[in-house]
Amino acid sequence: MLKKIKFALTGCGNMAAKHAEAIAALPDCELAAVYDIDQAPLQQFAGKYGARAYADYLLLLEDPDLDVISICTPSGLHASMGVAAARAGKNVLVEKPMALSLDDADRLIEACEKAAVTLGVVHQNRFKPAILRLNRAMEEGRFGKVMHANATVRWNRNKDYYEQKTWRRLKDMGGGVLLNQAIHNIDLLQWMMGRVVSVFGYTAANLGLTEGEDVGVAVLRFAGGGLGIVEASSAVYPRSLEETISIFGEKGTVIIGGTSVGEVKVWKFNSPEKEGVLGPDVNGRSGESPLVCCIGDMAQAVRAQRKPKVDGREGRKALEIILAIQQSSVTGKEVVLPLGAAEN
Ligand SMILES: NC(=O)c1ccc[n+]([C@@H]2O[C@H](COP(=O)([O-])OP(=O)(O)OC[C@H]3O[C@@H](n4cnc5c(N)ncnc54)[C@H](O)[C@@H]3O)[C@@H](O)[C@H]2O)c1
Repeated sequence: MLKKIKFALTGCGNMAAKHAEAIAALPDCELAAVYDIDQAPLQQFAGKYGARAYADYLLLLEDPDLDVISICTPSGLHASMGVAAARAGKNVLVEKPMALSLDDADRLIEACEKAAVTLGVVHQNRFKPAILRLNRAMEEGRFGKVMHANATVRWNRNKDYYEQKTWRRLKDMGGGVLLNQAIHNIDLLQWMMGRVVSVFGYTAANLGLTEGEDVGVAVLRFAGGGLGIVEASSAVYPRSLEETISIFGEKGTVIIGGTSVGEVKVWKFNSPEKEGVLGPDVNGRSGESPLVCCIGDMAQAVRAQRKPKVDGREGRKALEIILAIQQSSVTGKEVVLPLGAAEN
């Protein structure tokens, strides 16, 4: 029998609970240890999942019986905790956003490369059946020339959301709507459309619930010639309406929406879909959850010593686009990517 891949969860909060359930659903994975600075969630997790409890991160990293450290702490802690894990020789699975700055993202990528450990970033929406189907259509060139694409996040994050966990409202811990919520959809947009060459964006902090922006809009130009639009809000009244990706090509149109980009709303092509592309339910109501697929892919990557589907360099792409939008909003100018290239 295969040796199980042993995970440790750091930060025993909302997302860690979802990781724990996903690990439990994977027969070749085990939740072996948990770490939190707060004793209450730490003990609760350790008891519920039968995992070793650590209140000291360095002691956790010394545990020889751990393969992957999953970083589910507030976002501003991801990079430094990931670097420490890599230096201890552990593989790293980091929640989105992988870091809040490109310098930090690069520190994390370099630390993992230097230690020859695997780095994965949790962008589980890439594993949704409808999104995989769209990606297949893109790869097969079924759209013909892709003219434009939209990433739309119209969500509501109210006072309760920020009061439940104070880090969420801090710019240097959670960011704003772009880094904290829309990053998933921006990741999908760039995954489908390819390299972004420039952005022009505006951001605004309207309601004062978060230090970061609660609305961000941007226009993007892609290296392949298409144009993109990002609309991201965490201030939609009275509740979350949609997270949608739309792709418009000369021979096809696809819109995948619902509240969390899982429902095919429009699927039109001038050519028939190849047999075998459609799964039992393209809207993902059957089969494994996207997070199970994402964590399972990480485990397989560690086992096979290959890159996970979303490795550090993939995770960095959406971060760079967001930082460019924020920079454009400050300067009032179009920002050319890659960021920092002009100075090099
Ligand atoms: N992939 C997704 O769809 C998704 C969804 C929600 C959140 N997230 C990400 O997951 C991360 C955690 O979000 P959450 O909603 O679970 O937060 P949370 O506040 O529910 O949990 C965070 C936990 O980290 C602990 N913590 C804080 N500082 C710590 C430290 N220095 N050392 C150890 N533990 C510490 C807290 O005590 C808490 O238990 C964030 O980066 C967030 O962006 C991802």
